[in-house]
Amino acid sequence: MMKIGIYQFDPSWGKKEVNLNKIKGKLSRHPDVDIWVLPELATTGYQIPSQEAINELAEPFPTGDTGKQLRNLSNELEAGIIIGVAEKEGGNIYNSSVVFENGRYIGNYRKVHLYYEEKKYFKPGKMSPPVLNIKDVKVGLMICFDWIFPETARTLAIKGAQLLAHPANLVLPYCQDAMLTRSIENKVFTATANRI
Ligand code: ACM
Repeated sequence: MMKIGIYQFDPSWGKKEVNLNKIKGKLSRHPDVDIWVLPELATTGYQIPSQEAINELAEPFPTGDTGKQLRNLSNELEAGIIIGVAEKEGGNIYNSSVVFENGRYIGNYRKVHLYYEEKKYFKPGKMSPPVLNIKDVKVGLMICFDWIFPETARTLAIKGAQLLAHPANLVLPYCQDAMLTRSIENKVFTATANRI
């Protein structure tokens, strides 16, 4: 048996240290969890006021300070962690999920279907959503608004995903029902982590 932890919280805009400390405090209290799923943009917060502000907060992964802290946390917990971050790469900023397992960086996914004003601040990802082996489970990665396109979950299921890990900052009220449908139509488990 394996245990999935979904930590839904209220990331404070721009306060990476505060958010990381909250995450470390909560996750450390549940050493029995094998794989954690956290919200979209969990380290920076979601309410982006300007391009300059998100440029300032975004970091390269896994080499930046946030990546190092998350890598260490996954090592201490001997767990997998899937978490939404603002990722800087090659002069571009992406709304990404990054994955760590037992002190190793496993990979990332850059959100393809950006929602509303996110398009002003982030470049859309070009990679097909990946399926990664985490704790011997095939985990497919998608981010928030990807839920509205059945093709995202379908692509992950065809690639062999057993679980869809879905960091989110939900705005529309339909996602929770839609993700049940995505589970049923694709015969996969889904774990959505929303902000509160
Ligand atoms: C969303 O994709 N954060 C609505």
